[in-house]
Amino acid sequence: MAKTQVSLTVNGAQVDALVEPRTLLIHFLREQLSLTGAHIGCETSHCGACTVDLDGKSVKSCTMFAVQANGTDIRTIEGMANTDGTLHALQEAFREMHGLQCGFCTPGMINRAYRLLQENKNPSEAEIRMGISGNLCRCTGYQNIVKSIQYAAAKLAGVPFQEAAE
Ligand code: FES
Ligand code: FES
Repeated sequence: MAKTQVSLTVNGAQVDALVEPRTLLIHFLREQLSLTGAHIGCETSHCGACTVDLDGKSVKSCTMFAVQANGTDIRTIEGMANTDGTLHALQEAFREMHGLQCGFCTPGMINRAYRLLQENKNPSEAEIRMGISGNLCRCTGYQNIVKSIQYAAAKLAGVPFQEAAE
């Protein structure tokens, strides 16, 4: 099949590649760029495991073709750490607050939470739950994911994290 040239930015690096028009963005990221952090759970836009940040929006990368990403700026979980190599507040939060168990949903969940906190620096619990409603987790029951996002919001704001009373 004829291939199409795409040029985009991925985790701050310029990427030029040839892709088949039928290639989904998630397959391009995982198979051509070896960025396997974004996972494939359903390929039908339900689970959110494939979520990446694209031009300032959370995008389920199984729902678009790689050719549609031409000219865009993408961040995957591989680009989430701080430039000095330390964990991003969200990564630290998920570790500290036990926001993951098997970890399958985690890259998508953290990417989604990243955009949520860009849009709302101090979300309520209800806003967090609504914000991650497109990302499914089969392990945690979500409580510790919510706590992780609250922890990260506090850390990014430079204030101590206080767990809400149960
Ligand atoms: S793999 Fe994309 S939403 Fe499930
Ligand atoms: S930690 Fe297992 S699916 Fe979320």
